[in-house]
Amino acid sequence: MKTLIAANWKMHGKLDWVDKPAEFRSLFRANDVVDVLICPPAHMLEIMVRACAGHGISIGAQNCHDKTSGAYTGEISAQMVADTGATYVILGHSERRAMFGDTDEVVAAKTRAALGAGIGAGLVPIVCVGESRAEREAGQAEEVVGGQLAVCLSKLGPEDADGTNLVIAYEPVWAIGTGLVPTLEDIATMHDHIRGCLTTRFGVKIADTIQILYGGSVKPANAKEILALKDVSGALIGGAALEMDSLAAIAAAVE
Ligand code: 13P
Repeated sequence: MKTLIAANWKMHGKLDWVDKPAEFRSLFRANDVVDVLICPPAHMLEIMVRACAGHGISIGAQNCHDKTSGAYTGEISAQMVADTGATYVILGHSERRAMFGDTDEVVAAKTRAALGAGIGAGLVPIVCVGESRAEREAGQAEEVVGGQLAVCLSKLGPEDADGTNLVIAYEPVWAIGTGLVPTLEDIATMHDHIRGCLTTRFGVKIADTIQILYGGSVKPANAKEILALKDVSGALIGGAALEMDSLAAIAAAVE
């Protein structure tokens, strides 16, 4: 399985960031083991698709609506994202869950839409899950993440998950943007648990091919040990993905 190094630019980015893919490639050469994905704000999707085409870097959105079109001011549909040439979409990020009402049920509908049910969008959803600090301290982290996965993936049929069109990102809420990271043991335990949930849901053959990313304060200094863990198949990176030298250093940490 290739390692996916995914940049979530959140609400950062100007049109002149279009030079960043070339800068990234000057720092990190394409190889057979690492896939690189950049998820810029929506206004940059199309221009970034064009800028990344020659560099083998994929582009994804940070959200989409579950409806194809309609009176949903401020929203963008999965089909619209796909029309830009983007191929991934982050869904259920904890910031969307905390600030924009993205419940597990909403994420389930968006995941379904992203995969293209009836509309042919065919995006790869990156479904984000993760516990709060209070939930971890109460010993409920695995139960919370398992519950999120069960609902978020509930609208997928056997034909939807072939392992190549679905990505899971484990992002403990308390680790995002804080500099705090779970212990390697806790990350490994959670990723193993997620693999188990996916196996229950899709069977071992498909589950074993689904990439499970870790996200939350991934930096060049800690990337190597996190990415070396057995069930960690990549990283979803916020702050350290805004500068190409640190994103390249994280990609270079893949063994
Ligand atoms: P940080 O890497 O800034 O902690 O953000 C992680 C994240 O939210 C990626 O989606």
